Amino acid sequence: MQVLVTGGAGYVGSHCAKALAAAGHVPVVYDNLATGNRWAVRYGPFEHGDITDLTRLTAVMDKHRIEAVMHFAALSDVGASTSDPLAYYAVNVVGTHRLLVAMRARGITRIVFSSTCAIYGMAGRSSALGEDTPALPISPYGQSKNTAERMIADSAVWGLGGVALRYFNAAGADEDGEIGEAHEPETHLIPLVLHAAAGLRPDIKIFGRDYPTRDGTCVRDYIHVADLAAAHVQALQRVEPGQFAAYNLGTGSGSSVLEVIDAVRRICGRPVVAIEAARRPGDPPELVADPARAHAALGFTASLTLDDMIESAWRFLVNHGNMDPRRA
Ligand code: UFG
Repeated sequence: MQVLVTGGAGYVGSHCAKALAAAGHVPVVYDNLATGNRWAVRYGPFEHGDITDLTRLTAVMDKHRIEAVMHFAALSDVGASTSDPLAYYAVNVVGTHRLLVAMRARGITRIVFSSTCAIYGMAGRSSALGEDTPALPISPYGQSKNTAERMIADSAVWGLGGVALRYFNAAGADEDGEIGEAHEPETHLIPLVLHAAAGLRPDIKIFGRDYPTRDGTCVRDYIHVADLAAAHVQALQRVEPGQFAAYNLGTGSGSSVLEVIDAVRRICGRPVVAIEAARRPGDPPELVADPARAHAALGFTASLTLDDMIESAWRFLVNHGNMDPRRA
């Protein structure tokens, strides 16, 4: 299939483009490079364009005879969304709306959507989160993704088939070392701890030690980006025009901030200075997926562990110096 991959120059999008190509599809990457990296586009054609540009979207769909869409193009920094919510709604809600208008105009009825556990807000305190957990996002980012999901679900009425994949905490890098996580600025725990291990930063701050968790630090369900990519290809094969489904993608077990730091020390064989700091606003204590539905419907199982995530991300960092292959 010719698959339009919006945001295909970004972290998760670029790994999914590679997985699509490996499965025999043609990923046509559509990205404005605002946060994505041109060097991360290695499979299939690249089309520069903005997700809110309806004319350009339609032209690219025509040029490449697009049959299905994987939609990653979005702003995704939870903290930044609280200081500039309109930017998040513009890209994540208006952008998704334009994409759906273009798809409808061109009769494209299959979409796999990059969603997030952030739509569940504070709901993850006591037990693993299933898909029927009420969506009560606490950030504009989570709300914008929830609204985009809703537009896709409601579009079943004109024949759209949609699968929303709600990721927990994506981590790790491509096993071949070609692509990996390279955000600017970096805010995510695993790459930041690796930067500390590599001496690229003096320390890692632990945001809160007084949470109601096993060691007082936040617990997250880290999932390898290669497992996420495989799930997208599985979802594409199962998306049915006129039907909508949402699946949680996680491993089903969580790691605390302290456990992640200890794992990095062990795997990298380097010291990491950890400093206790205040809680970060908006952080739920615990977010762990119940991935049973994705397993039953998509055949999805997360096969890679936290150690695999840290090892592959460390390899990417070591091979590419400062996490930017252009400067390696
Ligand atoms: N953390 C630290 N120190 C740091 C960075 C992070 O202690 O320097 C902690 C955070 O407080 C959090 C955990 O490490 O408890 C993980 O933080 P990340 O920033 O790596 O990830 P988040 O859980 O905040 O965010 C992820 C995704 C979002 C998604 C969100 C849902 O990156 O896209 O989960 O809550 F929306």
